[in-house]
Amino acid sequence: LDIAVDPLDGTTAVAKGLSNAISVVAVAPRGCLLHAPDMYMNKIAVGPRAAGKINLDTPIEENLKILSQALNKDISDITVTMLDRPRHRELINRVRKAGARIKLFQDGDVAAAIATCFEDSGVDILVGIGGAPEGVIAAAALKCMGGEFQGRLYPTDEKEKARCTKMGLCDIEQVLTMEDLAKGHEIIFAATGISNGELLKGVVYYENNMAKTYSVVMRAETGTIRFIEAIHRLDKKPEYAK
Ligand code: FBP
Repeated sequence: LDIAVDPLDGTTAVAKGLSNAISVVAVAPRGCLLHAPDMYMNKIAVGPRAAGKINLDTPIEENLKILSQALNKDISDITVTMLDRPRHRELINRVRKAGARIKLFQDGDVAAAIATCFEDSGVDILVGIGGAPEGVIAAAALKCMGGEFQGRLYPTDEKEKARCTKMGLCDIEQVLTMEDLAKGHEIIFAATGISNGELLKGVVYYENNMAKTYSVVMRAETGTIRFIEAIHRLDKKPEYAK
């Protein structure tokens, strides 16, 4: 099997006591998940209604028009989400100029990509630059949900470019499609909330060594999405007991 794991997507969020940190894992048959180098990736993600219609290489203004048609709503009612980073300043300006809404977040772009697939999340499209390994995991999740994710590696120096070549990713300019990132349909994705987020609540500790966790498990083959609320007896798991 291939396993792509980010035990803590939102390290800074946890350190600062902020929301939206999750623990994520994607599993697929061997060779189906791209082994992405630890660097940045330029990303675009949308939910099922816009899947197959957007393109990372299409200007954001055009993608917003396409999205507006696919979702049958005005551009002014479309919400674009992206990491709140100075590198996104120009993109933010262009989205605002195009008339769409912006929802910036501090950390955790796997959860933000997933949000595009839930109509009640209030988020329609994720764009911008985040971690490449997180891109593979997000692509696996969106494969399960029928959304679409595309990415392009974003090496920031010669050393990172050399690392891409060494890992067999010779065409750095290539748009990585869902099939490049998370191939086929034998894919399983799971996430557990660490701190409270819109997708999942965080871990709650109770008296008597009890803890509650909130997780989501999805399968691409069936499209089933299961939300699991679990109560853990930490006294029966000595490694976790306080
Ligand atoms: P980590 O918890 O692994 O640091 O990732 C958090 C995260 O927000 C990712 O979700 C995102 O892809 C990446 O960091 C963005 O990187 P940067 O903080 O350098 O902009």
